Amino acid sequence: MSFSYCTLFSTALIFLPTFLALLVPSFSNSLVNVTRGGTPRQLSVNFYAKTCPQVDQLVASVTSEQFREAPVSAPATIRLFFHDCFVEGCDASILISTRPGSNDLAERDAEDNKDLAMEAFDSIKKAKALVESKCPGVVSCADILAIAARDFVRLTGGPYYQVKKGRWDGKFSLASSVPSNIPHANSTVDELLRIFKSKGLTLDDLVVLSGAHTIGFSHCKHFVNRLYNYRGTKQPDPAIDPRLLKALKMSCPQFGGNTDVVAPFDVTTPFSFDNAYYGNIESKLGLLASDQALSLDPRTMPLVQALAKDKQKFFQAFAAAMDKMGSIGVKRGPRHGERKRDCSMHL
Ligand code: HEM
Repeated sequence: MSFSYCTLFSTALIFLPTFLALLVPSFSNSLVNVTRGGTPRQLSVNFYAKTCPQVDQLVASVTSEQFREAPVSAPATIRLFFHDCFVEGCDASILISTRPGSNDLAERDAEDNKDLAMEAFDSIKKAKALVESKCPGVVSCADILAIAARDFVRLTGGPYYQVKKGRWDGKFSLASSVPSNIPHANSTVDELLRIFKSKGLTLDDLVVLSGAHTIGFSHCKHFVNRLYNYRGTKQPDPAIDPRLLKALKMSCPQFGGNTDVVAPFDVTTPFSFDNAYYGNIESKLGLLASDQALSLDPRTMPLVQALAKDKQKFFQAFAAAMDKMGSIGVKRGPRHGERKRDCSMHL
């Protein structure tokens, strides 16, 4: 797949061309039971069979167009889905805008969500508008986000999997719920595991879902300490390949750099959803400390090695893990959820 850099980076600047030049040589349709507070909640692939049978195609028409017009929508939407599911469950609470004049900030205005790209919100807004025009008041924003994330995985070259549906949208969205639920670039494996386990996800899910960093970009602030002052040593992180270190330092000065600059997660194939992420972290080419840590920790290393060797294994595992992540804290019914017409506002 080829992209024009101009299209791709319409807003932010980038990148590491010299370094890149150096380097570049169904599953089950069955129902899932989500248990929370003892009540089983079921999602199903055919949830809208009677009420909006064409929902997947409607969303697909928007995501494919959006991908042509603004390819950054792909990584941005996959990340948006992750940040939705990890905070109060997959309930589209990430899409709510803070009410004008209100002191209660919504999730999307939390510090950890400030970098979520506009293109992701636009993709869901457009998809929701089209779905509402054909099936008014039926399909939740949370389901549309889950379908769009899957589409973008596929559009960038990753696996196709069926998305189970039936999520209701959440009634609350609070910025204060975000910090303790979203992992950070300098989190240790223990900290990552604690957060993933609190969502019902395993060590393997952590390794597999981190493979989403095979596409997309990170702002310098998330890794700049690794380049100049790793864990207070005033030295670079010894676990960075010296060529990557040099290239990243050129893009990201220790002080006073342009805050819009981003670097690709996957320095070998930045635009393809493949398993190169794992080979990279084995070769000290991880961008974030949290990525690199997965190839160094004896608990996660064996799976990193297996996924680096086997793209199909990664694709299968990723599809299954996205399904699992998409089932976190799902709400069903009007007691806990709502059906919004506009994803940015509560009813
Ligand atoms: C394991 C813990 C994780 C940490 C610490 C982490 C951290 C980050 C950070 C710091 C960024 C850069 C944001 C920016 O500067 O704009 C990022 C981007 C991204 N993350 Fe993660 N992430 C994690 C897990 C995940 C998971 C589970 C997924 C999805 C399944 C995911 C998908 C993405 C994608 C696709 C991007 C690129 C976004 C873009 O280019 O717009 N991440 N992540």
